[in-house]
Parts: sequence; structure tokens; C-alpha cells
Amino acid sequence: MTQDQGGLRTQTDPSKTIIAIDGPAGAGKSTVARHLARHFGLLNLETGAMYRAFALKVLRSELALDEPAVLERIAAETSIRLEPGDDENRVLLDGEDVSGLIRNQLVTDAASRISVFPAIRARMVRLQQEMGAQGGVVMEGRDIGTVVFPHAGVKIFLDAAPEVRGQRRFDQLGARSTTPPEEVIRELHARDERDRNRADSPLKPAPDAVLLDSTNMTLDEAVAAAETIVEEKLGLAGLRF
Ligand code: DC
Repeated sequence: MTQDQGGLRTQTDPSKTIIAIDGPAGAGKSTVARHLARHFGLLNLETGAMYRAFALKVLRSELALDEPAVLERIAAETSIRLEPGDDENRVLLDGEDVSGLIRNQLVTDAASRISVFPAIRARMVRLQQEMGAQGGVVMEGRDIGTVVFPHAGVKIFLDAAPEVRGQRRFDQLGARSTTPPEEVIRELHARDERDRNRADSPLKPAPDAVLLDSTNMTLDEAVAAAETIVEEKLGLAGLRF
């Protein structure tokens, strides 16, 4: 962390730090996290992809999404790994690359549903803590600054008005989407409600997170603002990367 020591500001080596990016769907987390990772030479870890991969496994097994004891048993025998990719992480579910199978609406909805269960969260959190233990990571999710890495060197809570997030999500889906924008926005609201109101690790800013509201920003502007926050927190302002 940046500290004032006898009036001198100290710098933190980015390769040792953890940058936590939390916020609701469609706020721009992935874009910001990907950019920060590239810019500061860090590993980018998308924790939502882990919940998605586990949800895919449950859907494939045709088990109910709301039976915590069954889900816990499956989780205990499931391996989920994230590997750095060019754009997104490669997601390995029991060794199988499922990266291309976890972004559809069915998995998105199932991931939000299974993520309310404490035993599932505890397993994911442990895996995430192992992956980030050495530092040098940007980790993106809902509970990174509050639960996974409460001592992260930089915490950013990225938010935006629901209608802006819904529109961004629709634009992102682009030609791939057969879903009308109203439906995308409705689904996003439902997910927000679940993520913010679950009893275990609800989506909320850590007390020491910097709030970044990207409602009136382009994603490029949000990225630039996030970069400035990281530079200031790590005492790197004015240095070039
Ligand atoms: O970030 P995402 O949209 O890929 O996440 C999918 C779901 O996973 C999201 O609706 C809630 C859950 N999730 C979570 O509970 N905690 C995280 N750290 C990341 C995602």
C-alpha cells in the first residue's frame, strides 16, 4: 500500500499487489479488469466464470439448482481452474475447456442462482484465494474486496445506472443475441436483486473501496479513471508504464 513515511510516499510494486474489482453485471468490470491487468502486467482472474462453470456442470447433470446439500457434494468433487487467455480467461471444468459454453442466458441465470449457497461460495472463495495468494492479480467479481481479499491493495467498486448497464449488456451480446433489449434489462434486474440481497456475501462495496460510477462515462473513460485510481493507491502517479 501507499504510505506516508516521514513525509515520503512509498510505492507498491504492482507485481505483488491485488486489485479487487467488484460491482454489478454490465458496469464494465471485465473491460476495466482486462485493461488494468495488461497495463500493469498482472494476471486477470474473472471469478464469475467459476460460478458459471459450476452452474454448467449442475445443468448438465440435470440436478435441481436449489438443493444445497446436493450442490455441495458436487462442488467438493469438482475442479475449476482459470487460465489467462488473450481476451477472456480460459475456464477449465474438471479439465475440460468450457470457456465457450458459459456465457449463454441459461448458464448466466443458473450461476446467479447457485451462487447464493454458502457452501458453494466457500469452495469458490478458497480456490480464488489460492489463485491470488502470490499477488500480481486483478480479480473481478462481487465479493473480492469484502470477502476473498479484504486486504487487497486496491479496491474499486464499479457501478452504473441499471438502464445503462442493461444497454451495455445488450450491445455486448450484439448479433449473437436473439433476446430483445427489454428482456436483457429484466434479467439483469433479477440478477442484481439476487446478488445484492443474498444473505451470504451480498454484492456491496467494501468500506475502503473507491466507488467509480460509470453511468455517464464511455468504457474508455471508465478504464482511464480506474487506471488513475490504481496509480494513486499504489503511489505510482506520474510514473510511466
Ligand atoms: O460476473 P458474472 O456475470 O460472470 O457472474 C455470474 C454470477 O456469478 C453472478 O450473477 C453472481 C455470481 N458471482 C458471485 O456471486 N460472486 C463472484 N465473485 C462472481 C460472480
